[in-house]
Amino acid sequence: MTASSGARSAGLARLAACAIALALAACTGGEDVGTVPEAPDYPKADGPGEALQEGEARAATAIGDAIEIGLARRAEARREAGGFARRRPFIRDAHPKAHGCVKANFRVMRNLPGDLARGVFRPGQPYCAWVRFSNSNEDPDRSDAEADGRGMAIKLLGVEGETLLQEHRAAGTQDFIMLSHPVFFIDDARDYATVVREQNSEGGPSLLALFGAIGIRGTINAAAITGLKNRNPFEAEYWSMVPYQLGTGSAARAIKFKSQPCGYDALSDKARTFYREPEVPDDAAPNFLRRALRTSLEAGSPCMEFLVQVRAAGMEVEDAKTEWSPEEAPFRKVATLSFPAGQDFDTLEQNLACEDMAFTPWHALPEHKPLGALNRIRKVVYRRISEFRRKNNEAPRAEPPTHHLDQCRGGRWVSEGAGSYSGR
Ligand code: HEM
Repeated sequence: MTASSGARSAGLARLAACAIALALAACTGGEDVGTVPEAPDYPKADGPGEALQEGEARAATAIGDAIEIGLARRAEARREAGGFARRRPFIRDAHPKAHGCVKANFRVMRNLPGDLARGVFRPGQPYCAWVRFSNSNEDPDRSDAEADGRGMAIKLLGVEGETLLQEHRAAGTQDFIMLSHPVFFIDDARDYATVVREQNSEGGPSLLALFGAIGIRGTINAAAITGLKNRNPFEAEYWSMVPYQLGTGSAARAIKFKSQPCGYDALSDKARTFYREPEVPDDAAPNFLRRALRTSLEAGSPCMEFLVQVRAAGMEVEDAKTEWSPEEAPFRKVATLSFPAGQDFDTLEQNLACEDMAFTPWHALPEHKPLGALNRIRKVVYRRISEFRRKNNEAPRAEPPTHHLDQCRGGRWVSEGAGSYSGR
């Protein structure tokens, strides 16, 4: 597992604080979700390594119900407090604080090995992309100096082929959603319903119920996920955490993917520590990660790599809590992301467009079908919650997002003036 020592010590502190609760917690093995209806259009578990869990489609309904109740309550509180600069009243349930939505040129490697050339990974193919960087915590006003999980969501535009989300099948988008840790903290659908219900309960979560649902392993993973510092969103690693398909039919394989700064694998261990254990002063400005994006884009064209890891024998698709060893199944580079220098992403118009975008693993070609229980649940929940917040905000619901779409030509962003950005 890749985690900073900061994450480890935060994890240990939390574990110690919760030891008594854990000792008392009854591991009940999942909430009873028997009374709610099954979510409609629930995906089949027919990909490599997939197996449907009991009550999964009902758990998806229970999770969506609980999130909507929590979001409505928080919107009301925010309405009373006032002040919606660059945010809508109804925000994302997870990762509500964006550092910015920035433009990236995503170019697939020209010499991509043939076994990886599936779906959007066509050798040499360029795509315009939006990348939304975020903090995980549900509080959109929390300081960036606090330890937290960090998100990176990529949306490729101008993709050929139909996506798996029926209502957006002709949108021409492919999303890749990642977090700053390789593994998730839970993989049981009904246990996840318990966690979400607790997180959204009016009186706050019951520690006993939470620990009963996620257990020791989940607690360790959750502490590591939320225990990370970040100095600059361009200077970190991000993982898909859960698997996806590569290819279709009997030749389909399971993969995970990640992003990292360009040249990362060639760095010495000591140099990598610069990224993995960044020093961030406790009194850093609350939104300094937004400023870091701006400073980096003023200085040049930041560069990241996109890599995939093909599952090896013995690695489980339905187990989201165990890392697929990168020694046994190495990550292989597939594409480069270059972020055009000089772009002005921090405008009111673009920040609101960023709020209104919806990323989901199911904005995907069949060659990249999301795999595993968490991803199956995400099909229902992301669709429902993004619709819920955009409807209540009376916001545009276009996919692909229309913001600056006219500036994407031939798979490359061009600036408002003449010519291309000076992207690498
Ligand atoms: C069943 C499991 C999960 C549920 C129910 C869930 C739920 C959600 C919801 C409701 C949103 C907001 C969607 C919107 O309003 O547009 C969201 C966003 C997000 N989730 Fe999850 N999530 C799950 C698993 C994961 C996993 C495994 C990852 C790991 C990569 C992840 C990473 C993210 C990120 C990065 C965002 C922000 C995307 C953006 O920038 O718009 N989630 N999640």
